[in-house]
Amino acid sequence: MSAIRPSRKRNIASIRAQKGGEPIIALTAYTAMMAEILDPHVDVILVGDSVGTVLHGHETTIPVTVDDMIFHGRSVARANLKALLVIDIPFGSFEASPEQAYQTASRILKETGADAVKMEGGVTQAPTIEFLVNRGVPVMAHIGLRPQAVRATGGYRIVGKTNDECIDLLEDARAVANAGAFSVVLEGVVESLAAEITRTIDIPTIGIGASPDCDGQVLVTEDMLGMFDKTAKFVRRFANLRAVISDAVSDYAREVRDGSFPAEAETYSADKPVTPLPIKKSGGQ
Ligand code: KIV
Repeated sequence: MSAIRPSRKRNIASIRAQKGGEPIIALTAYTAMMAEILDPHVDVILVGDSVGTVLHGHETTIPVTVDDMIFHGRSVARANLKALLVIDIPFGSFEASPEQAYQTASRILKETGADAVKMEGGVTQAPTIEFLVNRGVPVMAHIGLRPQAVRATGGYRIVGKTNDECIDLLEDARAVANAGAFSVVLEGVVESLAAEITRTIDIPTIGIGASPDCDGQVLVTEDMLGMFDKTAKFVRRFANLRAVISDAVSDYAREVRDGSFPAEAETYSADKPVTPLPIKKSGGQ
């Protein structure tokens, strides 16, 4: 049984107000169709740069461009969301300077209509977060396992297994909160550290692989729908769409081969008037 959430438009203040209260529900979407399905159930829809690995077959998120994010961001925005729409700033488009980050972020907000941007980085990016926030760009920070940094860090490693890592990540969390981020994604963080961060900073933490001790949770939608054979330990599959799609496609192929599709009901005949198809929401016509 699904719980439909209230249909008021989420904003930065309402997400911040969920600190320590009702958990923030977040998922990714890259298309209007998926966003429309998610919207009644979630507080935040993230157009993540995971679009590069999930939809475009890249091995990492590093090749994703600002144009890619804008293309998918505009598609999602067309779903007219009640959820807060957040779009990732991709690798190579913000790190050089706060000014570069502002150019990228303002372009993303102007060209998509998104509510906020998400940016990877802690202490190092805190001055950039402050620069953006002071100029009217709401920022969701992203610390812990940072997929854009995998080349530098040597892979997808869980953070917080050593004392030094715990001290560094706590500093990252405090820095982004003090810089004015309205929330922070904690990715791949051990439970005790996620709990300590959530307890000590005054902005909501949104965990992915970071235990229940966060103010909210986010997952890549295609992961939780079971579209991939392999996923990280922290993913729970709430459906097995890969098998559902595979079975449906196998049925389709069999029925085309044996001639049972299309049948009379799916065929236009000259002696019956053709009902015009609606222009929108007509199954892709
Ligand atoms: O790119 C993405 O989808 C993300 C989420 C997994 C947090 O950053």
